[in-house]
Amino acid sequence: MLLERCSSAISGLGFHVHGDRTTRVSLRGAKIVPLCTRRQKRLSTRRGSALSNWKCSVSTTQEEARSGCSFWSSEDASGSGVRREDAEADESTREAPLLNALRECAEMDAAAFHFPGHRRGAGAPPMMAALVGKGAFAADLPELPELDNLHAAEGVILEAQCKAARLFGAEQTWFLVNGSTCGIQAAVMAACAPGDYLILPRNVHMSAVSAMVLTGALPKYVTPVPDPTWGVAHGVRAAQVEAAISEVRRAGGRVGAVLVVSPTYFGVCSHIGDLAHVCHSQDIPLIVDEAHGAHFRFHHQLPETALEQGADIAVQSTHKVLSSLTQSAMLHAQGTRIDRARLAQCLPMVQSSSPSYLLLASLDASRAHMEGNCGVDSETGVIQCSDHNLDAALSLASVVRQSLHELPGLAVLDSASMSQDSAGIDPLRITVGLWKLGLTGFEADDILRLEHGVVAELPSLRSVTFAMSAGSSRRDAMRLIDSFAALSARYASEVESCSSVSLPSFGPEPVTTETEPPVWENQVMALSPRDAFYSKSEKVMVQDAVGRVSAELLCPYPPGIPVVTPGEIITQEAVDCISAVLAQGGVVSGASDDSFQFAKVVITNS
Ligand SMILES: Cc1ncc(COP(=O)(O)O)c(C=O)c1O
Repeated sequence: MLLERCSSAISGLGFHVHGDRTTRVSLRGAKIVPLCTRRQKRLSTRRGSALSNWKCSVSTTQEEARSGCSFWSSEDASGSGVRREDAEADESTREAPLLNALRECAEMDAAAFHFPGHRRGAGAPPMMAALVGKGAFAADLPELPELDNLHAAEGVILEAQCKAARLFGAEQTWFLVNGSTCGIQAAVMAACAPGDYLILPRNVHMSAVSAMVLTGALPKYVTPVPDPTWGVAHGVRAAQVEAAISEVRRAGGRVGAVLVVSPTYFGVCSHIGDLAHVCHSQDIPLIVDEAHGAHFRFHHQLPETALEQGADIAVQSTHKVLSSLTQSAMLHAQGTRIDRARLAQCLPMVQSSSPSYLLLASLDASRAHMEGNCGVDSETGVIQCSDHNLDAALSLASVVRQSLHELPGLAVLDSASMSQDSAGIDPLRITVGLWKLGLTGFEADDILRLEHGVVAELPSLRSVTFAMSAGSSRRDAMRLIDSFAALSARYASEVESCSSVSLPSFGPEPVTTETEPPVWENQVMALSPRDAFYSKSEKVMVQDAVGRVSAELLCPYPPGIPVVTPGEIITQEAVDCISAVLAQGGVVSGASDDSFQFAKVVITNS
C-alpha cells in the first residue's frame, strides 16, 4: 500500500519505485519549477503579512542541487509534471513525510524478522509497554527500504530534512539522533583539522570540548564578561573574537572556526550578526550552538535566528523548546565556508548506525506542527510564519515575569539586567534569583518540587531557571507564581527579621560555574585537549591533583560548563569551585570519579 501510494504520488516528483525501494533519481534536465528557494532572508517578509498557498518564483539553485533538496510546483510548462491538484493533495498527505511513512510501515501486517528484537512490540517487556504503549514499539522500526537511511538520505528522510531546511531558513538541514552534542562535534570536525585553532567562549557546552578531543583542534578561549550578581555570562563581543583571531594568526596558527553559544542556558544571546561579520571578513566559518534557540524563528518578539544573522552553521536541540523527543536535534547549514560533503562524512562518525525512527519522525512531526502556521508568500516566494504558535506562551511568560518581579525577595533576569555585549534574553527562559531570600537555587528547587510539584529546568547556586514553551499552560504558570508567592512569604519575613541578610552564605562569593573569572583566568593550558586525553594518566587524590595537568574534563553540573578541560593545569580555585557546587547538591560530569575525591592527571616523564 505504501509503495502504491508512493509510486502514484511521487512518480512525477523525480522518484522511481524500484523493486522494493524508492530511489531518488537525478533531477537534472527535468523541466521543473522549484516551489521554494533555500535562501530565505526573511526579516522584511517573515512578520505580519498574509499567508498564501505554496507558490514558486525562483529557479533551481546550486544549493538545492548540493543539498539534494528541491520543491516542486505544478507549473511544469511541458505539462508532464505534477498537476496542481495532485501537488496540493500530495502536500497535505505528505505534510510529515517521514512520520507518515513510519506510520504506514508500523500498520503493515508484517512477519517481522528484523531488529529490534521486540518484533514491533510482540516481545516488548510488559512493564515498558505499559508505560509507553505498544504503539511506541510498533513504530520502533529499523531502516526498512520505505524508511530511507539517515546516513545516505534519498527518500523520506531527505524529504523531511528539506522541509525542515525550508522552514528554518537553511540551505541544508540534517536530522540528528544524538542531540546537539553530535551536531556540534561534527561541525567542529568538518571545520578544523588537527592543530587548527577553534575560537570559543569559556562557557561552552562540554560537546565543544569533546569535539576538540576528537579533532585535535586547539582551543583559543575568549571570556564573556560575567555578571557578578547573577553569575551569568553576558554575550561574546565581536571585538574579543577579532582580537583572538589576530593573536592566533600573529603566532602563526590557523583558525579553523569560531564557535559561540547563543542563546545560553539562561537565554542570553550574543550579537551573532557582528560576530558573523568579523568571521566572514577573514573567511572563517561561524558555528553557533543554538541548542536553546530552535524556537526563535517562530515569533517576532524573539531574537533573530543565528542563520538569519549570517551564521554558517546553527545546531538546534529541537527537543528543548520545540516539541520533538529528547535527543532529537537538527543541524542547519548555509554558504560554502563549511565543506558540506565533509560534514556529511563526519555526522555518521558521531551517531548511531541504528538511528531511532521515533526520534527522527518526531523531528518531522515537530517541524510540521510549527509549519501549520506558516506559508509561502506568493509574491516573494519566502516562507513566513504567523506568531500564532508562540503567542500564548509569550504572554504567559510575561505574566509570570511580572508577577514574580513583584514578589518580595525575588529577582527576575531580564534583558535590562544584561550589558550591551548581549543581544537580549529569550523571554521564554525565566531565571529567578533567590539570594535576597537567603536561599540557594538548589534549596528553592527542592521546596518548589517537593512541596508544590513545580519542576524547574535548571537549579543553580543563586537562581532557578524555568523553560516555557508552546506546551506551557495557564494552570501551570499560575502554579509557578503561587509556589513562589508561598516561598517569598515564608523566607522574605525571615530575612527581614535577620537584619542584614542580603546574600546567602554559601561558598566562595559568588560561586557560579558559567563564567567565574578567577577560575577561568587562572587556567593554564599545558597540553592540547586531545594530547591530554590520550596521555598516560593516573588517578590521584584531588588535593594532590593541584598543579598537575588534567587528563579529563571537570564540568560541574548545573549548568554543564567545564571548569577544567583536558590539558589544563588543575588549580586550587578550580577544585574549590567544583567542591562548592557538589556541596550544594550539584554534580560533576566528565570526571572519572563523580564524587570528586580523585582526579585523573597526566603522567609526565620527569
Ligand atoms: C548550550 C548547550 N549546547 C549544547 C547542548 C547539548 O544539547 P543536547 O542535549 O541536545 O545534546 C546543551 C545541553 O544542555 C546545551 O545547554
